[in-house]
Amino acid sequence: MGQSVWYITTPIYYPSDNLHIGHAYTTVAADALARFHRLKGERVLFVTGTDEHGQKIQRKAEAAQVTPLEFVTPIVQFIQDPLWKRLGISYDDFIRTTEERHAKVVQAIFRRLQDQGDIYKGVYEGWYCVPDESYWTESKLVDGKCPDCGRPVERVRQESYFFRLSRYQDRLRDYIETHPDFIQPVSRRHEMLNFIDAGLEDLSVSRTGIQWGIPVPGDPDHVIYVWFDALTNYLTAAGYLADDERFQAAWPANVHLVGKEIVRFHAVIWPIMLLALDLPLPERVFGHGWLLIGQSKMGKSLGNAVDPIALLDRYGVDPVRYYLLREVPFGADGSYTEESLILRTNVDLANDLGNLLSRTTAMIHRFCDDEVPTLVAEADDGELARVAAEVYREVDEAMEALSISDALTAIFRLVRRANKYIDEEKPWDLARAGERVRLGNVLYSLWESLRVVSVLLTPFLIETPARLRAQLGLDAPVAHYREALWGYQPQGLRIRRGDPLFPRIESPAAAPPPPPEAVSSLISLEDFQKLDLRVATVREAAVVEGTEKLLRLVVDDGVRERTIVSGIRRSYVPEALVGQQVVIVANLKPAKLRGIVSEGMLLAASDGETLSLVAPLSRVAEGARVK
Ligand code: MSP
Repeated sequence: MGQSVWYITTPIYYPSDNLHIGHAYTTVAADALARFHRLKGERVLFVTGTDEHGQKIQRKAEAAQVTPLEFVTPIVQFIQDPLWKRLGISYDDFIRTTEERHAKVVQAIFRRLQDQGDIYKGVYEGWYCVPDESYWTESKLVDGKCPDCGRPVERVRQESYFFRLSRYQDRLRDYIETHPDFIQPVSRRHEMLNFIDAGLEDLSVSRTGIQWGIPVPGDPDHVIYVWFDALTNYLTAAGYLADDERFQAAWPANVHLVGKEIVRFHAVIWPIMLLALDLPLPERVFGHGWLLIGQSKMGKSLGNAVDPIALLDRYGVDPVRYYLLREVPFGADGSYTEESLILRTNVDLANDLGNLLSRTTAMIHRFCDDEVPTLVAEADDGELARVAAEVYREVDEAMEALSISDALTAIFRLVRRANKYIDEEKPWDLARAGERVRLGNVLYSLWESLRVVSVLLTPFLIETPARLRAQLGLDAPVAHYREALWGYQPQGLRIRRGDPLFPRIESPAAAPPPPPEAVSSLISLEDFQKLDLRVATVREAAVVEGTEKLLRLVVDDGVRERTIVSGIRRSYVPEALVGQQVVIVANLKPAKLRGIVSEGMLLAASDGETLSLVAPLSRVAEGARVK
């Protein structure tokens, strides 16, 4: 098929309640991927929308004493604007399943499958989970409840149309076996193979007794099962049976991005529908993890849903997007806390990126009168250019693999390397010593690193790239990914200093600091001298899995590298510590923490919940004594 459009979808959301940041998570991720592909010059079709039929919505509307359409319409409007608008969601099409264009496609497909004997009439007897809109047989229930969501199920016995999944079971299995990238991550692929191997029963694809749905053609007592209706949206939006040119260019979809709980619908029912229609299957179904509150999935029914609009009001679009995209490796579950959002913003955006910009522009102002120096290539060490080239490739690879948080980690590696480069090269000393060529090269490299970062960040953040570029003296918006190549920009610009990119957020949740404790009993100098306090540099830092507070650090104490387990996870992200100097108690007896031998302790000031590491004000040799 002459596919020339990169087609990505999100699930279409139920407008049964306002959406929460779990829904925003999928949509922002899809948006970043869509923006990335556009930046690479590809034609993109990015589709999201709303799944408006079904028993759940019908009941909600009855309870509110309005028609289902009256019930959903304001929610749908709210999703479009302000929700997706403020989050910068650049969808190309927003599909509502109540649209005429969609009903036509669903009915045409139903009729065709009926004509070819894939859909037949029978009687369904079993269970139904209304919130999930899913059927269950007795044997699958767990303690009489829905095995997916744990909520009560309802007994259903009615005449129904059935879709012959069983007929396609072997073909689907072969397809999954021969297309290892079709279902991702690989853990979901295994789950689906097991599910198929347990045997596929024919699926009930119509309901009687509810009216809110697309009628079965020629049998208006039945409405088409809401999942059959909803999955078809991916074809409707691609122009199936309506606009052949659009459809030929877009189909098959490149990525269906979905939460892990609905992979089953997308990796079993949906491909079988497509097989039955003789259509190519999507390239990838990616099932990402959940945002959790504590140990539970965030959700309206659990009453723990976080309102994205409140977060946007409080923090602005880019911190929220950055947090959603960066915090959790895409695919895994991750806990949401407002503290971690604040920490991410403060550490990565305000501190690392914001400071790099303000330090760089301040030095170009002071030493070069706002003029970006020209590179003297023969005299350049090429260090930042090298890192930038690596990062350029890593971001590209990570985005192709849908490892969105890895892409951001790579970009911030360049930011951190550039900050460290300032500490190493000490431009102020170069200025004092009159080393103009080297000074110019260092400042150019810092400026150029920031310019590269402004291009690389374009798919992820909405306002920051342009604000960053304005201060760098760049007016044109970023047009292509290749602009992130080192040296792409012609030289000879002037910077325009401005406000800090991200003001530090003071944690609203932080308790006021407790009053300082009264000074304890006095000790002698000898007592104090028993403590061997040393400066050390952090070489590695990682979280200790399964703990909330602990980080495992490898520090260089001037003599050797030692491992220290420290309870600072709530106050520091591990990557930010690498390269930092700290003060350690070097002669503390080793102790085992969570199976790891910790050889010493880090000094930190404690201000209620927040810990602040103690460090020398300027860099000193590792092993320097603190006395
Ligand atoms: N209408 C169906 C999907 C039909 S697609 C053909 C549906 N809708 S939903 O409103 O319940 O949205 C489910 C999707 O929202 C999940 O698949 C996931 O993408 C997202 N999330 C909802 N809660 C979430 C979390 N707590 N964490 C991460 N994503 C979450 O199912």
